[in-house]
Amino acid sequence: MTETSTSTEGRKRPSLPMKGVPQPKREEVLNLPRVHISQHPVVADKMTRLRETKTTPAEFYRLVKEIGTLLAYEATATLATEPVEIETPLQAMTGQRLAGGIGVVPILRAGLGLAEAFREVIPEAQIWHLGLRRDEDTLEAQEYYNRLPHKVDLQVCYAVDPMLATGGSAIDAINVLKRVGVPHLSYVGIIAAPYGLLKLAQTHPDIDIYIAALDESLNDRGFILPGLGDAGDRQFGTL
Ligand code: PRP
Repeated sequence: MTETSTSTEGRKRPSLPMKGVPQPKREEVLNLPRVHISQHPVVADKMTRLRETKTTPAEFYRLVKEIGTLLAYEATATLATEPVEIETPLQAMTGQRLAGGIGVVPILRAGLGLAEAFREVIPEAQIWHLGLRRDEDTLEAQEYYNRLPHKVDLQVCYAVDPMLATGGSAIDAINVLKRVGVPHLSYVGIIAAPYGLLKLAQTHPDIDIYIAALDESLNDRGFILPGLGDAGDRQFGTL
C-alpha cells in the first residue's frame, strides 16, 4: 500500500506504487504454459496504429474491436463442437455446431470494445458485465458493478480487458468467475506487462491467456511501457 503525497502547493502528487518493485524481464515470461501471444502480422500492424498518440478515440475504438475480433478467432480455436444433422438445398449432411454456451465478461469499462468484438464472432455469446476499478494509489482492484447470472451453463467464459498491468484486475475477475462456478475460463487482453502476466499465470495456472502483445515493463506508477496510455480513456474520449 502506498500513500499519496501532497506537494507544498497542495497539489496531489502521483503515487509511485511500483517504485523499487522487482519485475521479471520480457524474455523470462515469453514461454509460460497456456500463454498465447499473437504472432499474426495483421495484429502487429493494428497494434502499432493503436499505440500511436495521434490515433483518435473513434479510430482507437475501431482498432480495439478489430484486434479483438482477431484475438477472438485465436482464443476460440479449441472450442468443442458437436454433430448436428442439417439439410442443404441439395442433400442431408452432418454439420458441426458449438457444444455449449459461450460467456464473455468485459471488465469495465475498457473491456467493452473487446466484448463487442467477441459478439461479432459469436453473436449468441452471453455478456456478463463486471466493474473493477484500479485504485491508482494502491493499484488494488475494487469491484463496483456485477451483472453475473444466477444460472451458469457454459462451455467456456472469456474475461476480456485490454490491459494486464499488475494483474490485479484480471486475477480478481477470475476469482469472481470461479466463485460462480464457470468450468473453463480464459483471459483475453491486448497488452500485458511481464509482471502482471506472470502474476496471473501463477495465480490461475488453470486458465488460458491470450494477448496481442507482451510489452517491456511497468513504470513507477504502474503504467505499461511502451504501452498505449489508458485504454478506457482512449476508447471513450475521456482524456
Ligand atoms: C485499467 C485496465 C485494467 C486495469 C489494469 O482499468 O483497463 O482493467 O486498469 O491494471 P491492473 O492489471 O494493474 O489491475 P481502470 O481501473 O483504469 O478502469 P477503466 O477500464 O474504467 O479505465
